Amino acid sequence: MPKSTPGLSEVIRDVPKAELHIHVEGSLEPEMMFDLARRNGVALPYRSADEVRRAYSFANLQEFLDLYYQGMAMLRTEEDFFALADAYLRRAAADGVVHVEMFFDPQAHTGRGVPLGTLMDGLERAIVRSRERGVSVSLILCFLRHLTEREAFETLEHAEPYLDRLLGVGLDSSEMGNPPSKFARVFDDARDLGLRLVAHAGEEGPPEYVWEALDILGVERIDHGNRALEDDALVARLRDDRIPLTVCPLSNLALRVVDDLAAHPIRRMLDLGLVATVNLDDPAYFGGYINENFRRVAEGVDLSSAEIETLARNSFDASFAAPAPLRP
Ligand code: HPA
Ligand code: ZN
Repeated sequence: MPKSTPGLSEVIRDVPKAELHIHVEGSLEPEMMFDLARRNGVALPYRSADEVRRAYSFANLQEFLDLYYQGMAMLRTEEDFFALADAYLRRAAADGVVHVEMFFDPQAHTGRGVPLGTLMDGLERAIVRSRERGVSVSLILCFLRHLTEREAFETLEHAEPYLDRLLGVGLDSSEMGNPPSKFARVFDDARDLGLRLVAHAGEEGPPEYVWEALDILGVERIDHGNRALEDDALVARLRDDRIPLTVCPLSNLALRVVDDLAAHPIRRMLDLGLVATVNLDDPAYFGGYINENFRRVAEGVDLSSAEIETLARNSFDASFAAPAPLRP
């Protein structure tokens, strides 16, 4: 008997995947937010997890960021950071993810009095557990671009004792008005420390920000990059240099970067030969983890099984640490 052809859902579920654009604080589900608030004796301005979810309606990136920073303020202790990362990494393993390069936002915690060591130790414990389960994990420290260059320098300096636990640095938060060039000197120092470099660019910001991320910061990957498609010379650069884009379909829909998944640019990215990958961004806020992102965008732009496998393979080509696992 010939084997029956697997449907798209099975292909998505079974293909090994690497996740390269996940903000661990964006995996804080409302139920855990309530648990943490109770544990830490903090009042939340909501009565239930469902009420929190109903508040998740965003007109743009900034409206999301306001709630994102409010939510993560429930994280106080090493145990809280462990619980957050452990829950996410268990979910990733269940979804067929074998490698994760995980963003975190230290300034959003140290800025409210949580010592860097508290979060580093909590995350590290969850990472060790994950590795024991067979999912490799590395950390990428993101600078908040709405803060100053000086604050980014201070953050990098505070992180030096933890260099052996860091794969790289990134750049996130409010993009418009905070071009990559603002952090040119910080990224130079990070490179000198041996860290890998990535940056969010072209989510809301113009193609010029993607050029700056490449030519001024010297990043090896662009997070999002949707608006790069507006500039043919930039598309040629991304294609010729095989610079990966970590694309986040459900995030793009929730933050109105796209109106409809049927018009999602991942279709054009693939057709143009760009190294596009599918990622989560902030799954607790945007309505789905990795397989849901694949399913919804596959439905939207009509991806074939072969295209899904290409996107999954791209996630390993684009990763800093992991070759694609061999499959029978
Ligand atoms: N963009 C910028 N900053 C972020 C995001 C994003 O999509 N998610 C969490 N921080
Ligand atoms: Zn992001």
